[in-house]
Amino acid sequence: MVKQIRLNMIFHTSGRHDAGWKSFDDPTTLVDDIDHQVMLAQIAEEAKFDAIFLPDTYAVLGSSFLRKPRRGLEPAVLLAAIARETKHLGLIATASSLTGHPYNVARMIATLQQVSKGRAGWNIVTSQENEALQALGVPLAEKLDRATRYERAAEFVEIVVAYWNSLPKEAIVADKENDVYIDQSLAHHVDFDGKHFSSSGIMQLQGRYNGELPVRFQAGVSAQSCEFGARYADVMFTSQPTVDHDRTFYKKAKGFAAGFGRNPDHLVVLPGLYAVVGDSEADALARKAQFDEQMSLDFLVSNLSKQLGLPVEELHPDKPLPFDLFEKIPTDDDVINYRRGDIGGVAKENGFTVKQLVHHNLTRGQRSVFGTAEQIADRIIEWVDTDVADGFNINVDVQPDGVARFKDVIAELRNRGRFRTDYEYDSFRQNYGLPPG
Ligand SMILES: Cc1cc2nc3c(=O)[nH]c(=O)nc-3n(C[C@H](O)[C@H](O)[C@H](O)COP(=O)(O)O)c2cc1C
Repeated sequence: MVKQIRLNMIFHTSGRHDAGWKSFDDPTTLVDDIDHQVMLAQIAEEAKFDAIFLPDTYAVLGSSFLRKPRRGLEPAVLLAAIARETKHLGLIATASSLTGHPYNVARMIATLQQVSKGRAGWNIVTSQENEALQALGVPLAEKLDRATRYERAAEFVEIVVAYWNSLPKEAIVADKENDVYIDQSLAHHVDFDGKHFSSSGIMQLQGRYNGELPVRFQAGVSAQSCEFGARYADVMFTSQPTVDHDRTFYKKAKGFAAGFGRNPDHLVVLPGLYAVVGDSEADALARKAQFDEQMSLDFLVSNLSKQLGLPVEELHPDKPLPFDLFEKIPTDDDVINYRRGDIGGVAKENGFTVKQLVHHNLTRGQRSVFGTAEQIADRIIEWVDTDVADGFNINVDVQPDGVARFKDVIAELRNRGRFRTDYEYDSFRQNYGLPPG
């Protein structure tokens, strides 16, 4: 059988394009209207996406987020509500490994696993933006370097998984005669004493539903992220600047997985893909341009200046980046500027002017495709068949209109035998072809 393509829908507030919200009659409801969110999830399920993926950050991050709505509802709570209104869709909640205690995340995601009857996913992010740290009262001086972030995240995941396994079904003996509800000898007491965390106990609920653990996702771009994901995640979510980078990342991730004694097919690699479907490629590009033009150019250029560490006066909309200056400016912040090198590379490779670059960047480094449903399906199949990806996390410009358009791509993939006609299973893991965990 030909390889089936995995597709998640990224669950944005209004869509991936920062100007997308302007096309809503009443954008004030986008942040917290539960009916709107449920409607979007149901559309994703109708289209038979594997899952919806809820990115998330703590607090309002930076000035760009004052200019567009962000989903304010906490992901796991929102997904618990969505779980009751859907039946097959995987439900992926982002929860940072850098804040709070792993016990709380273990319990939160285990609850989602039970509420959704086996459809929970956890996106393990390691980000530590300044605004998030400030909101949580963490001094910026305590910001971690990348190696420490991943070292800490590893302990975090180990504790979460240990708690998910701490109360197996067989330990709930419910022996009425002897007055024993849980047989402690059948439970797996967690006893963790690490460099960053310590924890001891048994969680009060099972992490498994029908024997299956929630699906673990790792979102990142760096080599450390790739190695970490190959060890601890079931699915890697990445965003690489070029197809060749994606192919290299894919190969590395599968290689690391094999090195850790895993079946590489049980590590699913899903880069982001920003897809705009039109009647022709020109029509799809015109749609993007129409949204781009609704953004303030001054604002986008000033953002680029902060992102690249270049003075704004050096950035002229109709000229290329000042590469000589760009290359001279050192950066010691590997988190804030994690895309800095990529942005410079993309600008150079495509010969972009600053204006073209800021418009290109509106997709946040996701690979972009513009064209008819047939053209986009061709590209997706080509990339999956040449070891670039196992599928994609799909971003559309505006939800739900962009999803309605993307359904034509799904229909095309289905016609070619590359995407499901209906959900095969109720469980997220099984739909992804993953073992119980
Ligand atoms: C595709 C993708 C999605 C991400 N989603 C989130 C998110 O929802 N919330 C968050 O706080 N960080 C998110 N991150 C940031 C990562 O967790 C991490 O901080 C960042 O990639 C820098 O780490 P790295 O250099 O090791 O990749 C995401 C990163 C990528 C590449």
